[in-house]
Amino acid sequence: MPPKLTDIFRRGLRRDAVAPTTRSYERVYSNDAADSLERRKTEYRRLTNHYYDLVTDFYEFGWGKSFHFAPREANESFAASLARHERRLAQRLELRPGMRVADLGCGVGGPLREIARFSGATIVGVNNNAYQLERARTLTEEAGLDHLAEFLECDFMRMDAPDASFDAAYAIEATVHAPTKVGCYDEVFRVLKPGKCFAAYEYCLTDRFDPDNARHRKIKRDLEVGGALPNIVRPHQVDDALRQVGFELLESVDLVETAGPGIPWYQPLAGSPTSLAGFRSSRAGRLATRGALRILEALRIVPGGSTRVTELLNMCATAMVASGRLGIFTPMYFVHARKP
Ligand SMILES: C[S@@+](CC[C@H](N)C(=O)[O-])C[C@H]1O[C@@H](n2cnc3c(N)ncnc32)[C@H](O)[C@@H]1O
Repeated sequence: MPPKLTDIFRRGLRRDAVAPTTRSYERVYSNDAADSLERRKTEYRRLTNHYYDLVTDFYEFGWGKSFHFAPREANESFAASLARHERRLAQRLELRPGMRVADLGCGVGGPLREIARFSGATIVGVNNNAYQLERARTLTEEAGLDHLAEFLECDFMRMDAPDASFDAAYAIEATVHAPTKVGCYDEVFRVLKPGKCFAAYEYCLTDRFDPDNARHRKIKRDLEVGGALPNIVRPHQVDDALRQVGFELLESVDLVETAGPGIPWYQPLAGSPTSLAGFRSSRAGRLATRGALRILEALRIVPGGSTRVTELLNMCATAMVASGRLGIFTPMYFVHARKP
């Protein structure tokens, strides 16, 4: 059952914590001064935790249980495209029963459950957000997949796991939250067994991003502020960081570039919804949600500050659509690397 709007903030954050948490989150981005980037990096843990405390219910309401994009094929449902994108990682990493695999930044476990079911491998969901992990555990138990899942509450920059303890690792639109790519990949390298692989879908700016173009810069900033991101980098910086920590890079490719002439990846945020779930994420649906929340907030049915959270998410969604139309950003820069 998809959650109702009135379910938002029923399970996680305390009612009176929503507005102060939103203000505290926005303060990190409050200016464009040189120290802003440094602050995002040093405070990344608090930043992402506040963000996911605030947005998780909205993501489940408007998007589903897998918090990512996917290359879309014509005549394919959104849910099917997400599952195909998730299974692609399992296939590339050759996951199979008996393997122990880390999912960095596992969200509420949508991809983890799909990949565990598809491959039979045991997936360890790593996440620093307690509320998401609580949801992930509940949903995994409900799906009858707890025998193939473990959850680890820790920072993926410093995992609570021994050296060389995983047969594979993957990350879906999560390591973009890392304060440094090198620090993040170095930690993945540490926990992988020799000869084993890491695969990820990274957020990246493309070659079409022009740092001298004010519109491009605003879109980048809106993506970062609306998505709790310290700094979106270029593909070559991802490749360089992987090599720098010792990985052998097997493949790196922007899947937006290689996708056929199907549906654009940002379409679920843009329009033409064909289902209720599709309507909720579309522009019209997001405006309707904001209007409804305003009323629910005035009636004190949802906590004060809820509307502001949707405004942040809408800002991010608008920037996603604009970045996709201009071709200056990709949410699916695919990398596959082996620890020698
Ligand atoms: C956009 S969501 C993607 C979630 C999941 N991979 C999916 O596709 O459904 C990013 C995830 O990364 C997690 N995350 C961000 N920074 C983290 C960190 N430093 N350590 C562990 N998890 C982190 C967030 O809590 C969130 O679950």
